[in-house]
Amino acid sequence: MTNALRLGIAGLGTVGTGVLDILAAHGDLVAARAGKPVTVTAVSARNKSKPRGKHDLSGLEWHDDPVALAKSAGIDVFIELIGGDSGPAKDAVEAAIASGKHVITANKALLAHHGATLARAAEAKGLALNFEAAVAGGIPVIKALREGLVGNAPKRVFGIMNGTCNYILTKMGMEGRSFADVLKEAQALGYAEADPTFDVGGFDTAHKLAVLTSLAFGTEVNLPAIKIEGIENVALADIRNAAELGYKIKLLGVAVNYGSGIEQRVHPTLIQRGSPVSETDDVFNAIVVKGDFVGDLVLEGRGAGAHPTASAVLSDIVDIARGNIRPAFGVPATALKKYKDSSPRAHEGGFYVALELADKPGAVAAIATILGDAKISIESIVQRGKADPTAERATAPFILITHDTLEESLKQAMAKIEKDGHVASKPRVIRIERF
Ligand SMILES: NC(=O)c1ccc[n+]([C@@H]2O[C@H](COP(=O)([O-])OP(=O)(O)OC[C@H]3O[C@@H](n4cnc5c(N)ncnc54)[C@H](OP(=O)(O)O)[C@@H]3O)[C@@H](O)[C@H]2O)c1
Repeated sequence: MTNALRLGIAGLGTVGTGVLDILAAHGDLVAARAGKPVTVTAVSARNKSKPRGKHDLSGLEWHDDPVALAKSAGIDVFIELIGGDSGPAKDAVEAAIASGKHVITANKALLAHHGATLARAAEAKGLALNFEAAVAGGIPVIKALREGLVGNAPKRVFGIMNGTCNYILTKMGMEGRSFADVLKEAQALGYAEADPTFDVGGFDTAHKLAVLTSLAFGTEVNLPAIKIEGIENVALADIRNAAELGYKIKLLGVAVNYGSGIEQRVHPTLIQRGSPVSETDDVFNAIVVKGDFVGDLVLEGRGAGAHPTASAVLSDIVDIARGNIRPAFGVPATALKKYKDSSPRAHEGGFYVALELADKPGAVAAIATILGDAKISIESIVQRGKADPTAERATAPFILITHDTLEESLKQAMAKIEKDGHVASKPRVIRIERF
């Protein structure tokens, strides 16, 4: 066999230790597939004395500073498993590229903010910038887009990309519990961080979507262009209403290429029951790629966790060992197209609208007139029971499903309905996504 591929791992937390686990379990298998032995020669983390599972790292080069590890002459590949869009992770990745090391990272935040710049720097030196683990953990969606689907110009990529949100929405639906209640449980189980904003606010999904959009459509990564809405305001009542209408609510990241421009959005979404995405529950992820020649492709699996994520890192390692060095975003980074936002257009799939009707005669007729004036047509209406006369202000739930319509028209109509006092609380609006 040829010389070993020497790995330097910065970050020995969940994912870093997972990589050590797989190399310990499958060292021979990986070497056979890589065509050469693959060995970790150097590592970096904050705390040298912290135990790292069952792994004895005493024989390895240790660096307190990941930048020093990135520059080490003792490694061929720098694996960044620290996290964060700036600071040590970014400094070390830049240093690795500058000193001629291939880079592997699981860091979607770094890629969403600096992906195109880092790819240009790596490619200028003939180096790999691999990031299979950065989107949907163990699901090989990066490789699918970068290699397997090169004969397609996808028009739409969407899916469930955050296990924490999917867990919370699944439990709310199955057990009839509130968002706050399930969030607490998810935190206790380690599925959600103490500060859950990054996940439940939709930002983690947005980082991943930005990377997928670039790969799918050949444009520069553009995180600020994404419209982001989290799941914090999804009410149990909406999940129940959706279920009765034949839908589930999922947090989706959606990217659509209209040719004239791109739309990227992250938001809670109604999706018809019985589709592969709606049936992806619990902490699982599912990504759909709508290829123009292959048709629909659905990739489903574990989107996080030590071993699924490390499994993706191993795929990147073996690619480099085999000499399979591809442009990071599918086309050379210098050839990535400038990102162009699509002009506002009707949301294909329509909207779910939940109104709490004020106890006021003629409210339904007035709402119908406002919607009609805004050219919003209704696909179905569900009116639930009667207003509760014992409530401080009697209201009755009124649910609408619209046909495809412009979001702006709907917003304006809702503002008028609210202003004219036909509803007792703010209308709740959720997009519907067709599979
Ligand atoms: N966890 C997942 O399921 C998952 C899934 C997909 C992608 N990712 C991505 O993978 C990356 C790592 O995530 P993780 O969950 O493994 O994080 P983690 O468990 O918090 O581990 C982070 C590691 O980085 C080290 N570190 C932090 N600051 C450092 C510094 N200044 N210098 C050197 N080392 C430093 C820490 O050292 P100490 O151990 O000494 O504190 C720790 O070992 C992130 O980009 C994350 O987004 C994670």
